[in-house]
Amino acid sequence: MGTGARTVIRGGTLVLPDGLAMGDLILEGDRIAAVAPGGVPEGALAGMSCQDVSGCWVFPGLIDAHTHMQAWTGMDWTADSFETGTRAAACGGTTTIVDYATQDKGMTMPQALEEWHRRADGTCTTNYAFHMAVADWNERTKDDLPGIREAGVSSFKTYLAYDHLRLDDAQTLEVLEGLAPLGATLCVHCENGTLVDALQRRVFDAGVHGPEGHPMSRPDVCEAEAIGRLLMLAHLAGDARVNVVHLSTRLGLEVIRSARRRGQRNIYVETCPQYLLLDETRYLEPDFGGAKYVMSPPLRKPADRATLRAAIAAGEIDTISTDHCSFNLCGQKDRGRDDFRRIPNGIPGVEHRPGLIATSFADELGPRELLRLLSENQARVFGMFPRKGILAVGSDADVCVWDPCQEWVIGAKTQHQNVDHTPYEGVRCRGRAHLVYVNGVLVARDGEPTGSVPGTYVKR
Ligand code: URP
Ligand code: ZN
Ligand code: ZN
Repeated sequence: MGTGARTVIRGGTLVLPDGLAMGDLILEGDRIAAVAPGGVPEGALAGMSCQDVSGCWVFPGLIDAHTHMQAWTGMDWTADSFETGTRAAACGGTTTIVDYATQDKGMTMPQALEEWHRRADGTCTTNYAFHMAVADWNERTKDDLPGIREAGVSSFKTYLAYDHLRLDDAQTLEVLEGLAPLGATLCVHCENGTLVDALQRRVFDAGVHGPEGHPMSRPDVCEAEAIGRLLMLAHLAGDARVNVVHLSTRLGLEVIRSARRRGQRNIYVETCPQYLLLDETRYLEPDFGGAKYVMSPPLRKPADRATLRAAIAAGEIDTISTDHCSFNLCGQKDRGRDDFRRIPNGIPGVEHRPGLIATSFADELGPRELLRLLSENQARVFGMFPRKGILAVGSDADVCVWDPCQEWVIGAKTQHQNVDHTPYEGVRCRGRAHLVYVNGVLVARDGEPTGSVPGTYVKR
């Protein structure tokens, strides 16, 4: 952090916008001072601390643009605080999170932003930015939009599901119209909440009370209908900038494809590791194990997963972030043992996203594509590029040195996420963050934190 100390990251493969190059990267204080394909002469390195990273890929720091740390979600508080969640994120290679500050009903957006700063400031290992989730749309909220944008928030969120959060269609349209002059992006949770409520009652009354009732009550139609509605509203608002978060279904993707074919601009799409790696058979795990996977939208059929994986390879999806929203099985999720509707929704993942995606897509995605999906596109879509998402002189000294050969196994006992399980227990990963720098400070080495807490707020 602005100490002026110089570090050379030497002899790695630099992952650059136009390809890969062996070379050196020099960090000075909290900025990148030199990007040197081919390397800098030995004599120029006097006084620098030197890290030999031959055999490694050198990425700009990875960005997770969808987290819920230290948040009340209507049923419970998430298990991870900003302190534990960002420490875990850094161990995996992530150097910036964009978390959802949330304006609950009866609260103003400035109050929500202040509260999120109170929770995060001074405690974060990674850098952090905030989206603003709008749950109470009224004249005051509308008037507050420019001030919130001024405070560095360039993306907002609305929900089309969850009773305590959702806006109706007219309100969603007004938010889109209010954001357009600010150049801000609206992230939207796309599920038809009315339909979900009715189907939940129907499934429960039919005698299905366990976690397997969760996907039954939120079929793909709920997602696809909501995506279609959102995209029409965005079109009505003059092709307003929207980011469809946590896309999980083929049907939803088809709706996006059709809007793009019609020529609608400014549609961005996010999916998450869980929808690319897991499927709905997980809800049948014995002893209430299916509760681990209760998140919204739910895990889907293998055919959905295959379609999303192909869409990743085809470049139809912009970002892979996690929707990290952790709850313990014991004491939190198990409160819904007799009623799946009472299981807090959400899963952990912020620590494991890079390892999971690099491993699972090893045959399809090279370092350049990984960079785009795990960092560069997040920086571009959310107003942080070229400060982040690229190795360039003057960019922030956030770096993830990736060892593509390191093998390791994900496990709840060894993870740093503050939660009693992981949905990826026992998954063997090939590739790991070897060295992770945030603002020029080494924060993690080979999956373990150094204890430094240099994260600062990213005003976008
Ligand atoms: O189940 C989930 N995803 N919980 C977090 C809130 C949200 O919907 O993004
Ligand atoms: Zn959501
Ligand atoms: Zn979320």
